[in-house]
Amino acid sequence: MSAEPLEIYLEEQDLGRDLREDVRFGLTARPKWLPPKWFYDARGSELFEEITRLPEYYPTRAERAVLAEHADEIVELTGAKTLIELGSGSSDKTRLLLDAFTRHGELGTFVPLDVSVSALRQSTRQIAAEYPGLRVRGIVGDFTRQLDRLPTGGRRLVVFLGGTIGNLLPVERAEFLTAMRAALEAGDWLLIGTDLVKDPEVIVPAYDDAAGVTAEFNRNVLRVINRELGADFDPEAFTHVAVWDPEHEWIEMRLRAEHPMRVHVLGLDVEFAAGEELRTEISAKFRPEGAAAELADAGFERQAYWTDPDGLFGVTLARAD
Ligand code: SAH
Ligand code: AVI
Repeated sequence: MSAEPLEIYLEEQDLGRDLREDVRFGLTARPKWLPPKWFYDARGSELFEEITRLPEYYPTRAERAVLAEHADEIVELTGAKTLIELGSGSSDKTRLLLDAFTRHGELGTFVPLDVSVSALRQSTRQIAAEYPGLRVRGIVGDFTRQLDRLPTGGRRLVVFLGGTIGNLLPVERAEFLTAMRAALEAGDWLLIGTDLVKDPEVIVPAYDDAAGVTAEFNRNVLRVINRELGADFDPEAFTHVAVWDPEHEWIEMRLRAEHPMRVHVLGLDVEFAAGEELRTEISAKFRPEGAAAELADAGFERQAYWTDPDGLFGVTLARAD
C-alpha cells in the first residue's frame, strides 16, 4: 500500500505562531530558555539520527535491545489493531513491533505523529513500502497539544519511545500523561521508553560526544530561529554545554555565549552577557518506581516492565484503567 498524504493537525502558520511565542517568552525569561521541539527541522532530524548511531549515545541501542526481546510479548498482551507512535522520528525501532505484528498480530493501521514533516514524510513512505497491507496514516502534530484528536476505533497501542517523555518538565509530563489517558478508552495500551538514572559518567558523554554531533544538534535551534524568524544569532559564538543536575536527575543541554552579544529577533534586542547560558533541553532520567507512580497517577496500570541486559533503559507497558 502506498503511504497516504500526511494529515496536518499543525499548519505552517500554527508552527510559526508557536515558535514566535516560545522565542518571545523564552528569550525574555531569566534564565533564558527554549523548548526542545524546535531542534527538529529536516537538518535537526538528521542530526538526531546521527546521534543515535554514536558510540556514546546508549539509549537507542538499549531500547532497541528491549524491543527486540519483547516485541512478540507486546503483540500478544495488547492485541492491538491500531498502533499510534508519538514523536515517531524515523520509526526505526518501531519496525521491531511492526515485524512482530506482521508475524502474528492483527494490526491494521499505523499512525506516526511528529512535528517534523521531513522525518514523517520519509518514514511513512518507507514503512508503507516495507509493510504492504498496513494502512499508514502520518500526522503532523504536537503531542503536547493534540492528543484529543488521535484516531479512534479498534484496540489502540500508543508508543512513545526514545525517552522523549524525559524532554518534558515534570509538570508538562503530568499534563501529557493525563491528556494521554483522557484520549484513550479503558483497555487501550501505552508503551513508554524511559532512560534510567545511572552514573553521570555514562550519561554526560552521551550528551557531549567526542565527534561534536550533539553540539551541532544543539546549535541547530539557533539556525531554525534565524531562518524562520529572520534572527541574527551567530551559532558558532555559542558553546555546547551538557550538565548533570543531581537534584532533578536530569541532564541539561545549554548554549553558552562566548562573548557579550546582542541578538535581534521579533523586534527584540536580546542581550547575552559573556558566559551566559541559554537552556535548550532537559532530558530527565527515571527510577522504575517513579515512572510507575507517574503512570498510576494519570490512570494507567503497569502490566510489564523490562530493561536491556545492562539495565540502562526501561520500557513500560501500561493499560488504561
Ligand atoms: N521516537 C524516535 C525519535 C526520538 S527524537 C526514537 O526513539 O528514536 C524526538 C522526536 O519527537 C523527533 O522526531 C521530534 O521531531 C519529535 N517531537 C519533539 N517534540 C514534539 C512535539 N511537541 N510534538 C510532536 N513531535 C515532537
Ligand atoms: C529525543 N530525546 C529523547 C533525546 C534525548 O536523549 O533526550 C534528544 C537528544 N538530546 C541530545 N541528544 C539526544
